[in-house]
Amino acid sequence: MSTDISRYTITAALPYANGPVHIGHLAGCYLPSDIYARYQRKQGRELIFVCGTDEHGAAINMKAQAEGVQPKEIVDKYHAIIRDSLKDIGISFDIFSRTSNETHHKTAQEFFKEMYKNGSLEEKTTAQYYDPQAGQFLADRFIMGECPNCHFAEAYGDQCENCGTSLSPTELISPKSRLSGAAPELKETKHWFLPLDHLSDKIKSYIQSHKDWKPNVYGQCMSWLESKDGLQARSMTRDLDWGIPVPLDDAEGKVLYVWFDAPIGYISATKELLGDAWVDYWKKDDTKLVHFIGKDNIVFHCITFPAMLMEHGGFHLADEVPANEFLNLEGKKISTSRNWAVWLHEYLEDFKGQEDVLRYVLTATAPESKDNDFTWLDFQTRNNSELVAILGNFVNRVQVLMQKYYDGAIPAASKLETVDEEALTEVAAAPTTIEESLEKYRFREALSRMMSLARLGNKYLADQEPWKRIKDQPQRTATIMYVAAQITAQLSQMMEPFLPFSAAKLQEDLGMENWAWSECSRKEFLAPGSKIASSGHLFSKVEDKIIEAQKDKLEAMAKAAQGPSYEPVKDEIQFEDFTKLDLRVGTIVSAQKVKKANKLLHLEVDLGFETRTIVSGIAEHFSPEELPGTKVSVVANLAPRKLRGVMSQGMILMAEDSDGKLTFTSVPESMPNGSIIR
Ligand code: MF3
Ligand code: ZN
Repeated sequence: MSTDISRYTITAALPYANGPVHIGHLAGCYLPSDIYARYQRKQGRELIFVCGTDEHGAAINMKAQAEGVQPKEIVDKYHAIIRDSLKDIGISFDIFSRTSNETHHKTAQEFFKEMYKNGSLEEKTTAQYYDPQAGQFLADRFIMGECPNCHFAEAYGDQCENCGTSLSPTELISPKSRLSGAAPELKETKHWFLPLDHLSDKIKSYIQSHKDWKPNVYGQCMSWLESKDGLQARSMTRDLDWGIPVPLDDAEGKVLYVWFDAPIGYISATKELLGDAWVDYWKKDDTKLVHFIGKDNIVFHCITFPAMLMEHGGFHLADEVPANEFLNLEGKKISTSRNWAVWLHEYLEDFKGQEDVLRYVLTATAPESKDNDFTWLDFQTRNNSELVAILGNFVNRVQVLMQKYYDGAIPAASKLETVDEEALTEVAAAPTTIEESLEKYRFREALSRMMSLARLGNKYLADQEPWKRIKDQPQRTATIMYVAAQITAQLSQMMEPFLPFSAAKLQEDLGMENWAWSECSRKEFLAPGSKIASSGHLFSKVEDKIIEAQKDKLEAMAKAAQGPSYEPVKDEIQFEDFTKLDLRVGTIVSAQKVKKANKLLHLEVDLGFETRTIVSGIAEHFSPEELPGTKVSVVANLAPRKLRGVMSQGMILMAEDSDGKLTFTSVPESMPNGSIIR
């Protein structure tokens, strides 16, 4: 079945245009897809690398409602932010489109019409949840409840993001409207369904023909296919006013389900890029179709979208779906709503010129086979002790020594010794080992194999010590520096898919181009006499204070997003319990500190009918001088108790906010002392 591959269609999940992109998105799909696309381009393979923003669906509506603007405003704003930030971190899409454009609307509608015509969709009227207050049906992210599969409490109406299962709102346990909070009602409505229940066998044999997929991907698919209830028919349309209108006569007010239109976005983007030649990239079986996604997208890329393509007919199905697991941040799940994230556009502002550092760290810690954690400390360590100390250090030593000894011109090697031969053999072998990892989507391993070249270079220089030989052994030194130059040149080539900015800079210093992969399995890249310039260090140290500032920023943003927190309300009491309290108006007549007690003030309070001594824990909030004359509310029938030797005969009511700040509950000046409060 392995036809020769003539071209590659590489897709990266279309990000929702409802917010900026964060490091989780980058690590999950944009970096691996970019490394893969850059690598395949270097291999000289024909390919397209497509992406764009996903601009429909409840994710967009919810954001628009939260900000009180129209959906259009949201998608325009975030399309621009996402497009620019992905470009600035070096993601080399051939096209970054959007699903709101005309080509896409037409493509998706034609796709739907064809499926409708050939009988692939079932029209059904069913009872769906409806929010009577909002006047809207509750599908997808408009409704939330407990997942019937894993019992996660915050599953959406179409998917549980915890276990990945695809759902319909009626399967949720205790569903709640996210619009008004009102109890959802059931109301009849007509929709068009993809009968996945009947397609189960077809899909199963498709999945089973890809046993080589990553275990997390293959395993998830099989567990859904073999689950108790099997696959369920899913509605491909929605009652919504934002989205692509259903292209049928009797479908007023209905739009395509976002997960129907979005993956077709890959196809529309290809049309936009290539015109009629899009067909080759989607319909020919000598095409290799690779979807890069995060794990919450597996069901849609491995089951729903292939089922759509099969039922439409004429399409080539995905060959590879190298989905990643999730990246956590400082030990916690990345969350947009809790603002626990490192936002790409902010990183780019804060770390100008250090794009490759983030690319490096996220690739080195990519959640390829299990969830992984990003920490700022790890970011600093990897930068300082790997990029700076290993890669940057080696390259810089070569550049400096070359300048110092030979005015930058690579010397000719005399006799190559075994160590030199061994080093050059490793140089020539690097593309093969790195290729092996990349072809298997093992990006961490590939990156570490690239770094091994720099390690080799450092060890070679440390062992050969050209600086100790330059005086007495000029010929030997020349050979060493010739070999070191070849290692540097190979590095500049192998770095390119991972660290494109640094690779370009280094290649320029070396007077090289970005060479074809097949040209890189060699021992000599730079002939004697060619010049090596030095435009400065590739990487620079990240200081502690930068890391501290990022950690503080993270905490501050999360805290701001959290808003005030509230103590739970105490157990219910009866009216009789309440009437037992005797609350009175009083006036503080004097206040003084209680000896050896930082928190306590000794107050005398006039209750009209008598003056009481009250010891109150407010000394850290008020100074004694400011208190006399203040009107307060007093619990007048509290049993007396001794505090620091003073008998306290009551309690003053205070209000306390979530930061622990205290104020008196206000009582108007005009209220006479002794008045009853209830
Ligand atoms: N917008 C989706 C998400 O962020 C991904 C859509 S991928 C596509 O989870 F295939 F639908 F385009
Ligand atoms: Zn679940």
